[in-house]
Amino acid sequence: MKLKKEILDKIRDAEGFPLGDDEDIIALSDPPYYTVCPNPFIAEFIEKHGIPYDEAKDEYKVEPYTADVSEGKNDPIYNAHAYHTKVPHKAIMRYILHYTKPGDIVFDGFCGTGMAGVAAAMCENPDGDFRMKLEEEARKEGKVIEWGARKAILCDLSPAATFIAYNYNSPVNVEEFEREAKRILQEVEDECGWMYKTNHTIDGMYQIGIDGKPIKGRINYTVWSDVFLCPNCTGEMVFWDVAVNKQTGKVMKEFHCPHCGLLTDKRNVEKAKITIYDKALGETIEQAKQVPVMINYSVGRQRFEKAPDDDDLKLIEQIEDMDIPYWYPTEPFMFKGKEWGDTWRSGIHLGITHVHHFYTKRNLWVLSAIYDKINNSDISLLKLLFTSQLINVSKLNRYRMNVSFPYNPLSGTLYISSMVSEANVFTAYANRIKRLIRIKSSGSKAYAITTQSTSDLQQIPSNTIDYIFTDPPFGDNLMYSELNFIWEAWLKVFTNDEPEAIVNKIQGKGLVEYQRIMEKCFNEMYRILKPGRWMTVEFHNSKNSVWNAIQEAVMRAGFVVANVRRLDKQQGSFKQVTTTTAVKQDLIISAYKPKERFIEDFKRRAGTEEGVWNFVRQHLEQLPVTVESGGRLDIIPERQDYLLYDNMVAYHIQQGATVPLGAADFYQGLKQRFPERDGMYFLPDQVSKYEQKRMELDLNDQISLLIIDEKTAIQWLRRELSEKPKTYQEIQPKFLQELKQMRHEDMPELSDLLQESFLQDEKGRWYVPDTSKQSDLEKLRERRLLKDFEEYKKTRGKLRYFRTEAVRAGFKDCWAKKDYETIVKIGERLPEAVLQEDTTLLMYYDNALTRLGY
Ligand SMILES: C[S@@+](CC[C@H](N)C(=O)[O-])C[C@H]1O[C@@H](n2cnc3c(N)ncnc32)[C@H](O)[C@@H]1O
Repeated sequence: MKLKKEILDKIRDAEGFPLGDDEDIIALSDPPYYTVCPNPFIAEFIEKHGIPYDEAKDEYKVEPYTADVSEGKNDPIYNAHAYHTKVPHKAIMRYILHYTKPGDIVFDGFCGTGMAGVAAAMCENPDGDFRMKLEEEARKEGKVIEWGARKAILCDLSPAATFIAYNYNSPVNVEEFEREAKRILQEVEDECGWMYKTNHTIDGMYQIGIDGKPIKGRINYTVWSDVFLCPNCTGEMVFWDVAVNKQTGKVMKEFHCPHCGLLTDKRNVEKAKITIYDKALGETIEQAKQVPVMINYSVGRQRFEKAPDDDDLKLIEQIEDMDIPYWYPTEPFMFKGKEWGDTWRSGIHLGITHVHHFYTKRNLWVLSAIYDKINNSDISLLKLLFTSQLINVSKLNRYRMNVSFPYNPLSGTLYISSMVSEANVFTAYANRIKRLIRIKSSGSKAYAITTQSTSDLQQIPSNTIDYIFTDPPFGDNLMYSELNFIWEAWLKVFTNDEPEAIVNKIQGKGLVEYQRIMEKCFNEMYRILKPGRWMTVEFHNSKNSVWNAIQEAVMRAGFVVANVRRLDKQQGSFKQVTTTTAVKQDLIISAYKPKERFIEDFKRRAGTEEGVWNFVRQHLEQLPVTVESGGRLDIIPERQDYLLYDNMVAYHIQQGATVPLGAADFYQGLKQRFPERDGMYFLPDQVSKYEQKRMELDLNDQISLLIIDEKTAIQWLRRELSEKPKTYQEIQPKFLQELKQMRHEDMPELSDLLQESFLQDEKGRWYVPDTSKQSDLEKLRERRLLKDFEEYKKTRGKLRYFRTEAVRAGFKDCWAKKDYETIVKIGERLPEAVLQEDTTLLMYYDNALTRLGY
């Protein structure tokens, strides 16, 4: 199959169509498997491999699942090519094996390096130890693993990402690759090897060989140092000379000017500048001055270090004066040049405005010579080899004296250090060949890779995907389009950052814009997923507000979140997440797309009690019946009344429906309709399975619940008092111990909390009222909350200190009355962080905005 200009014309309007010439897009693509643009062959791929969805015959039924997402980080595949974040394929394999059958289609909308595709293919033939480990685990749980390859559809906005993904997923002729790679490197070294030659010198004396000629060493790396200007005498200070202790390798914070003796530090000095003529740009430019200060070289197998001598300096000068006879990229960085993005730093990137400025002339030359040869070869893996070292041999490679590993760029940034290590390009590639051939020919041809935005998957038909695993970008964590620019410049096709899901100042995207794009992406993933199927979203190490934005985006798309688990790295187990404050770690969201039958039914009955119980019924069906950890049975919070209520409310709001039941009435109805065990609710046919397990195992009911606001305080009190009634004196010390109140929270006193939601017996002990009384209490409490909310409405300006429950109750009331303006007005007066971190408030606010047509 061929990719032609006419075909490109038809898909050019898809969001995220990459930036580049058609010829370059076509040249880099390998249709129908991989296109560096929206892949027009995906529909055919699905027709050929997919099983059409038919709800009447569909018997798919799988419980949500959570596994360690960092498993397999030392695997050769994982390490073959650096990318800014990666989920190892072995971790994803566990998910795929759990959720799918051989032949099913897996989708990843933020595929990065395509590990989901590698995982899908590897389900056919995993490496022996891993296979044995999984089989052993399955045997213990009484399960059988269905081995066999799955198909994958992978999408990423970045051509660099999909290009890496393509290479990881394609079969490779290892011998041919190795032979070609070595041949090319040898040819270029024959041509350019002189650039890395240096005189072998000991104590300043040239060493002479038996042939009477000076012995030449091969440079491993050259250290370049910043030069600063003394603020007192303006004399030049070479950072390496004045601040680095060569014995200990320590960099001193303070140092003396060698000319006037002034004691100073990096913050108080300016960088020296040089003006050079940039032949590529045909203009004079000003850059920070860096000078070579140390050469590490080898003679035979022995390594030596020396200060550059006159010949070394002459060699560098000679290279500077010559013209590079090959193509190399010269684009202005991010097509802007100056101040290109959020990774740009004024002190660090002085005069670094174009891609080629990230290289020394010598390395640029050698790279361009290698590129020239590789570009003429059909073996795509050679190009992957080429991109895999583009960062390590650039000026991003920091010199770190006591670190023996030769490549040390600061990941996730484009930081250029005061001491740069200019690595030998040939050595870098020779090492990498060894690594790449270790990944063997693991690929298959059962995949389709597309380069576009997941917010617009127009070529993928609805209800066709069997499972989604995805690891989305997290707010402002990593600036993918900026970090990928160097790779993409060599590939000649660039990320179209317009629909990039990111928080980025230069792109003018804040959290709101990020959430909007994520929402569009999840809408599309929802559309293409078969009903009743699962999506796993991996989330790690970021802010609460970003976590809430993602969760909100998932739910607004129509998914129902069945559970969220966090990985406890120390214990290697998963804990339930009960508050959003616990997110600075790996979290796994398991969400499902409800069945069509349910969705249609809900549309008809939305806002009625029947709609509520239908929701609960189908939700209980999707939740796990038992979860074990550490040989005990876990409480599943999603089966408890308050989370069932929250989820029910969230689904109604996201679907634009009114919520017909208050919490107390909901709890009462729940008790009447569904069997309860250990404070959790089940469907009648789930009970016996739970009871059976419950007889075998003890209950793990030590879920810690932090009290951060009124809502969690009431939850905590309910748990505490349902064990047995207690007096105020008994409760208070423990309550204060658990209290980690948020700053803005105008929380009622403990005595008021008790009064509003609980009852007191004749001995003065507080207890949880039965459900009928609860309803009366709740109504009274709600009235009081709404009164507070009315007070907030009367005031003006930012609300800094308030009762969050009152705002929640107020929003709920406004929603029922369709008073969306008030929700938005009050929402805008709340501190931004509160709105972004409180899932309930954010949900009402976002949906009210939508209702108002924003
Ligand atoms: C966390 S990374 C994924 C890493 C991946 N799991 C791996 O193992 O390599 C997120 C990816 O989302 C991509 N991305 C950002 N916005 C996107 C959009 N609108 N559509 C598709 N991909 C997008 C970025 O280019 C980046 O590669």
